[in-house]
Amino acid sequence: MRMVVLGLGYLGATHAACMAELGHEVLGIEVVPEKRAQLAAGEVPFYEPGLPELLKRHIDTGALTVSGSYQEAADFADVFFIAVGTPQKKGEYGADLSYVDSAVEQLVPLLTRDALILGKSTVPVGTARRLSERADELAKDVEVEIAWNPEFLREGFAVEDTLHPDRLVLGAFAGGSAEVTCREIYAAMLEDDTPFIVTDPPTAELVKTSANAFLATKISFINAIAEVCDAADADVKAVADAIGFDARIGRRFLNAGLGFGGGCLPKDIRAFMARAGELGAAEALSFLREVDNVNMRRRTRMVELARKLCGGSLLGKRIAVLGAAFKPESDDVRDSPALNVAGQIQLQGASVAVYDPKAMDNSRRVFPTLDYAQSAVDACEKADVVLVLTEWSEFRNLDPHALATTVRSPVVVDGRMCLDGKAWEQAGWTVCV
Ligand code: UDX
Repeated sequence: MRMVVLGLGYLGATHAACMAELGHEVLGIEVVPEKRAQLAAGEVPFYEPGLPELLKRHIDTGALTVSGSYQEAADFADVFFIAVGTPQKKGEYGADLSYVDSAVEQLVPLLTRDALILGKSTVPVGTARRLSERADELAKDVEVEIAWNPEFLREGFAVEDTLHPDRLVLGAFAGGSAEVTCREIYAAMLEDDTPFIVTDPPTAELVKTSANAFLATKISFINAIAEVCDAADADVKAVADAIGFDARIGRRFLNAGLGFGGGCLPKDIRAFMARAGELGAAEALSFLREVDNVNMRRRTRMVELARKLCGGSLLGKRIAVLGAAFKPESDDVRDSPALNVAGQIQLQGASVAVYDPKAMDNSRRVFPTLDYAQSAVDACEKADVVLVLTEWSEFRNLDPHALATTVRSPVVVDGRMCLDGKAWEQAGWTVCV
């Protein structure tokens, strides 16, 4: 089937390449010229394992093409995916829907045939209805159906999650063709017995925001328990392991540490609270404020811990920060806990050397004043404290014996509980979590 993907960021580029992989003919629309040029040449402008190979293959065969023209998009197909960003508004909790709105505003007046627009971006409940009304106003003698088909992909596993999702969700208004079209688009997955939940648009929108709110809550839950464990001298990892064996609880997303960041969970829980407030249901989600608070406290605690380990002041100290991406297998530094901690420590007068296997360029753009080291070992040179803030396997595999000779004092904070603490202690390190 022919289809268009509007927006080629983390979500859109992955979706476009995966749709080509499923055998569809895909036109991707990207308005940023540099990104477009890279993608058209078969290069992915961000780090996502497996995506460059997939994208290159389908660019080379012509199954996937890239353009900046909405006119070309309107001429190309009758099915359009919206995959543009919905960041947090500046100075407000709500989501900035200007990119989503603009996609509809630009596309719909150009349509000369009936069309289906499938939203993939994470949006506040009620967005599909509002866009549908707007599309009716903008459409010139054509029927434009808007439905929501949220994406649940994780960065680092985006290709796998898109091609083999846990479930497919479609929120469609009655009387349209969205379900039939989606069954065709996703035929390969449906043959694999992937659960397919067909519902109305507000429910589909809420499925996505609820899923992310639940994941954020799960992480903050274990981090709240970590605070109590700290106070009671108990082991939060053992608590997580033990409660995780209960199938009703499950072990995944119970890793205590520096907490969640990235382009999704933090802004999604805030947008969810803001939307609930608009709907008069603010009280129902007031616990999410505490989820956010617990999460942000992890960052403050890390800075405090580093200060304590430096004898009460960070002034003039040298701190190694290993990890800058918001999680491993990603170069994304949006709302990265690691980079946020590095910045706060520098503000308190320390010199901070950062190393990340993939996120150096993105980090430099956000925090140009930090020192960026060539390697983990370089970052640790003469460090008073080493902070491991993103659990890259490269850091797990560091040789604590060799590293002990590089630092000024062998003190490490395992901010993601990812190191073999005993091995580090045996190599002479003081290990804190
Ligand atoms: C998330 C959702 O998982 C995905 O379904 C949705 O579509 C988009 O948002 P992503 O942002 O890629 O995906 O990251 P995720 O793997 O969920 O991790 C989010 C953050 O939580 C990271 O900073 C990670 O380090 C942190 N995290 C995760 C924890 O602190 N503890 C955990 O146990 C799990």
